[in-house]
Amino acid sequence: MGVAKRMDLLGSETAFAVSAEAATLAATGKKIFPFHLGDINLPTPATIVSAVKEAIKAGKTGYCPSPGIPELREALGKDVGDARGLNYGIDNVSIQPGGKPSIGKYIASMMEKGDVVLYPNPGYPIYESQIEFYGGIAHPYGYVDSPDGLRLDFDAIEEGIRKGANHIFYNNYNNPTGASSPDEEMQRLANLVVENDMFLISDDAYFDTLYEGTPQSIANLPGMYDRTLTMYTFSKKFAMTGWRLGGAIGPEKVIEQITRLNVNMESCTTHFIQHAGVAGLNAPKEETQAIIDELRGRRDILVKILNGIDGVEAHMPEAGFYVFPKVTGLMQRMGFHDVEEFRKATLNETGVSFCCRHHFGRPLEGETDFYIRMAFSGIGKDNLQEGMNLFRNWVDSNIK
Ligand SMILES: Cc1ncc(COP(=O)(O)O)c(C=O)c1O
Repeated sequence: MGVAKRMDLLGSETAFAVSAEAATLAATGKKIFPFHLGDINLPTPATIVSAVKEAIKAGKTGYCPSPGIPELREALGKDVGDARGLNYGIDNVSIQPGGKPSIGKYIASMMEKGDVVLYPNPGYPIYESQIEFYGGIAHPYGYVDSPDGLRLDFDAIEEGIRKGANHIFYNNYNNPTGASSPDEEMQRLANLVVENDMFLISDDAYFDTLYEGTPQSIANLPGMYDRTLTMYTFSKKFAMTGWRLGGAIGPEKVIEQITRLNVNMESCTTHFIQHAGVAGLNAPKEETQAIIDELRGRRDILVKILNGIDGVEAHMPEAGFYVFPKVTGLMQRMGFHDVEEFRKATLNETGVSFCCRHHFGRPLEGETDFYIRMAFSGIGKDNLQEGMNLFRNWVDSNIK
C-alpha cells in the first residue's frame, strides 16, 4: 500500500528530533541540560488538578458538544475578550485539544489551494507545514535585528502582499525569537491587513506569559475584530502542555467552519478537561503568577549569562519561554562554520541541549548570522546555572 502523495507536503516539528537526540545521550548516563524543550517543568495549579478529579467523579466522561461545553466557551470568550478589550460571546469560541489544532483547521477551512499565506520564519514550524500540506503558497517573513530587539521585516510582508497574500499568521511574543511588537509596529501590520483585505491568525500562545506590563492584541486595533482569529492555549499560562486544551476565538463564520472540522476529527475535546479549564480561568491569580515569577527569574539569569560570553548577543524576551541569541561571533571564535555542528558538539561535550534557527522554518536567502534558541521553561534555576557554567568553561577552553 502506498502512502498518499500529499504526505510529501507535510512538514514537522524538527525540534522533537533534538529531544530524541538528547534522550539517547541521557540513556548513556550523560547529564542533559534541556534548553531545547518548549515544555514546562512546573506543576499545573492545584485548583485545576482538583477540578479535573471532581469532574471525573461527577461523571463528565461522555461525549460533549463539538464546539465545547457552553460553560467553557462562555468563560473563555469572556477571558480572552476582557484581556483584549473586546467582546466575544459563546458563538465566537470553538474549544480545541490544544492551541495547535486551530492552525491546521483554519487553513483547511478558510484557505483555497494556491492562496498565498504569510507566516513568520523563524517561527512555529507548523504554519509552514500546514499551509503547504493543504496546497497553499507559504510566503515567509523574517525579523530584522535592531538594537531594541527583533522587528518584523515589512519588506518581506509587503512583497507577500504584492504576490496576493490574503492570510497572515502573526505570533506576537514569538517562538522562537522572543520578539514582541511595539505599538507602532502592530498598528502598521494592522493597517496592511485592513487595506489589503486580508485575514490574520493571531497565535497568542504566549500572550499571558508577559513578564511586565499589559499584553497587546492586534485584534483590538480598528478594523481588526472581524479579521482576526485568536489562537488560545491553556498549555503555557497554566502549565498544561500535556492536558491538550485550547480554543479558536474570532468571527462566527470562521468558528462555525472550525467546529465542523471538530465534528469530523475528534468529535469533542476531552470532556472532563474542559471543566478543569473553567476552573483554571476562575482560579486565584496567585497560582498562575507563581509560574510567571519562576520563569522570569530563569529568564533573567540566562540572558545575563549569555550576554557575558564574548561573541553571544541575546535580547531580553518580554514574554514567552525563549531566548534567541546570535552566536555568530562565538562560533567564529571557536572555529565553527556550521551551527548544527556547533549544536551537536555542545550537546556531546557539555550536555547542554538547544535548538537552532533552522528548526523553526527553512532559513531565508541572505541570512548570514547564526542563532540558537534556548528555552528556559523546562529547566530549573540550579540546573540552568550548572549547564551554563559547563558551557562557558567548554567555550573558554576551545577558543582558537
Ligand atoms: C507559537 C506556538 N504556537 C502554538 C503552539 C502549540 O500550543 P499547544 O501545545 O497548546 O498545542 C506552541 C507550542 O509550543 C507555540 O510555541
